[in-house]
Amino acid sequence: MQPIGIFDSGVGGLTVLKRMREALPRENYIYFADLANVPYGDKSPGHIVKIVSGILDFMRHKNVKAIIMACNTSSALVLPGLLENGYPVPLFGMIEPIAEAAKNGLGSKRVGILANPVTVNSGIYQKMLAPLNSVAVPCPRLVPFVEKGIFEGEEVESALAEYLAPVEELNADTLILGCTHYPFLAPVIEKMLKNGTRVLDPSLYTVKQVKQTLHKLCLLRKMNNGNGGKGRVEFYTSKSPENFKSLAGLFLGEQVEDVKEVSELAAV
Ligand code: DGL
Repeated sequence: MQPIGIFDSGVGGLTVLKRMREALPRENYIYFADLANVPYGDKSPGHIVKIVSGILDFMRHKNVKAIIMACNTSSALVLPGLLENGYPVPLFGMIEPIAEAAKNGLGSKRVGILANPVTVNSGIYQKMLAPLNSVAVPCPRLVPFVEKGIFEGEEVESALAEYLAPVEELNADTLILGCTHYPFLAPVIEKMLKNGTRVLDPSLYTVKQVKQTLHKLCLLRKMNNGNGGKGRVEFYTSKSPENFKSLAGLFLGEQVEDVKEVSELAAV
């Protein structure tokens, strides 16, 4: 009966929640959107570690059986340390599964990564993708567009023209969307790329890893729960629950009934 916890700074992680529900529809989920602290991309690493520790405590308090950091920033700055020291529930992130796939299986040679400034500065993508040739581009202007529900238009294209230039320069065969907010912009990105570059959304690879690992650990829910086989999702946010409710409904293509505010997690 225990839920799977998923969190992000905002709506970006919904791209992961959506795929998780397609892959494991019987599971119950808890989704936390940190709207009080979005964007993470311009914060210091120490600040992010503090914010994420609070969210992990919240998830543990909700008795989750696994936690997915549906956020590249947390996956870059917090996950490696926790995995090294051991953590009481299985933890998953966005970076290692896609990096492994790009290196082994997908046959990429030159990889572009779009991510926020903190993720880029952590150097984790380049490290995990080595020995592939890669360029990581900081994209500070993209998350605010997505949080406002703006997925196309002149402003978006002008920001992307700047961010995609180094990727085109590398003649990348693969582009990784290194922030869970960016898949909402994928149609424009694909339209703008000229060299037939393949665009990859890491959530697909993270979801595969979660499914395989939970299966191995015998943590998957087997019994039907009397709700047509579909699990529940509880939504939480550190600020603006009404805002989140309408945006999340739009993104998920279904009515989001209830979003609870966790104000203790607002001021970190
Ligand atoms: N969506 C998150 C990520 O994947 C955080 C983006 C942000 O708040 O800057 O990095």
